[in-house]
Amino acid sequence: MSNTAQIILDGKTYELPIIEGTERERAIDISKLRALTGGVTTIDPGYKNTGATESAITFLDGEKGILRYRGYSIEELAERSTFLEVAYLLIYGDLPNEEQLTTWKSDITLHTLVHEEIKNILDGFPSNAHPMGVLSSLISALTAFYPKSLDPNRSMDQVDLSIVRIIAKMPTIAAWAFKNEIGHPVNYPDNTLNYCENFIKMLFATPAEIYHVDPVLSNALNKLLILHADHEQNCSTSTVRIVGSSQASLYSSISAGISALWGPLHGGANQAVIEMLEEIKASGGDTKKYLDKAKDKNDPFRLMGFGHRVYKNFDPRATIIKKAADDVLNKLGVNDPVLEIARGLEEAALKDEYFISRKLYPNVDFYSGIIYRAMGIPTEMFTVMFTLGRLPGWIAQWKEMRENNEPIGRPRQIYTGHNSRPYMELGER
Ligand code: CMC
Repeated sequence: MSNTAQIILDGKTYELPIIEGTERERAIDISKLRALTGGVTTIDPGYKNTGATESAITFLDGEKGILRYRGYSIEELAERSTFLEVAYLLIYGDLPNEEQLTTWKSDITLHTLVHEEIKNILDGFPSNAHPMGVLSSLISALTAFYPKSLDPNRSMDQVDLSIVRIIAKMPTIAAWAFKNEIGHPVNYPDNTLNYCENFIKMLFATPAEIYHVDPVLSNALNKLLILHADHEQNCSTSTVRIVGSSQASLYSSISAGISALWGPLHGGANQAVIEMLEEIKASGGDTKKYLDKAKDKNDPFRLMGFGHRVYKNFDPRATIIKKAADDVLNKLGVNDPVLEIARGLEEAALKDEYFISRKLYPNVDFYSGIIYRAMGIPTEMFTVMFTLGRLPGWIAQWKEMRENNEPIGRPRQIYTGHNSRPYMELGER
């Protein structure tokens, strides 16, 4: 196979190198194209076929439905690992051995408390504030408490400390954002519990009663967090990398990632799916009406939880989550009518020419909300759950970008506005 590509422009041929990844993915390196051609660039709105980086973290094959973190299949990790082990794997490249895992866990539990003054900031939010907005703000606010973290070039020790701190504090801050929303007092972390148990306890315990964490909930959460832990160069991860490329701190970069994740076309889809299923239920379960709306090009409605930029046959995470939803609902004895609606909608969509021809399949968000709901987690918290899961992936990608000394992210454009025109005085406009 050739290791160069040729571009012919105005009768002149330019040779461009081809780079190949370990899974034989190939890309034309266009980084010198502008210099070679005297100013010609490439354009690809939404970066549909633009590689922004070379990365050794996550491999996915959208045609075959393969997803691997550092070479390990998502199916095996979800079945056999813990979220903190997977976080270590993503960030540091290998699964931790016993000693590394013990240190990693004890470092994290050491930092689960957040500064008491964070509570003052939390109190400033209206009680019905969406927890994603609160989470993004409070993660950004961590820069004020850890000013040494502001300069990521300062020392690797500071970077490692920021990594541990943010993984340790995110559950505390996320649970507090939820408590703020429902007007309950916040809970402090319980370091005798594991990562998932501690988060569940901070979410649900109240001073009024003794709370025991149901292992069905913590096991389900562990699996869900692993499945969400990284997904290569998606919208929020690209945001984290691009913000970090300006040498902004880890906290600022992650805060930006949270905002990017919130949108309904990305992580916000898990909330939107349940809202859609509820609406279908309220309309008497008329799935056909909603399929027709989704197909109608004059209607902005999309079938939430369907379609993916890269998966064109199935989303392997959705396959695992669909099975887990059945299991968790059975174990918890929950009979949720929206699960039936979801199944009916999926079945109808998968037979419909519109969805078949566009290769639109259920994605990770289609069934995850049903599990969260069965666990007693309110709808507005769904994207917060996704955030908690995606955190190690964002960190790993940020760290890799920094270690590779990647240049500041700064795309080009093709200008389509006015040509030069003279200034008009106010009275002449
Ligand atoms: N419902 C109806 N039509 C759809 C949908 C959908 N959910 N998704 C894509 N299409 C159509 C779209 O209208 C277009 O049709 P046409 O070719 O006739 O113009 C075609 O399929 C291709 O869509 P696209 O918007 O060009 O595809 P994309 O790769 O830019 O978008 C997506 C991917 C995930 C944003 C999109 O499928 C979508 O909006 N899905 C619903 C939101 C959702 O579930 N998001 C979660 C994604 S997975 C988790 C995550 O990333 O966080």
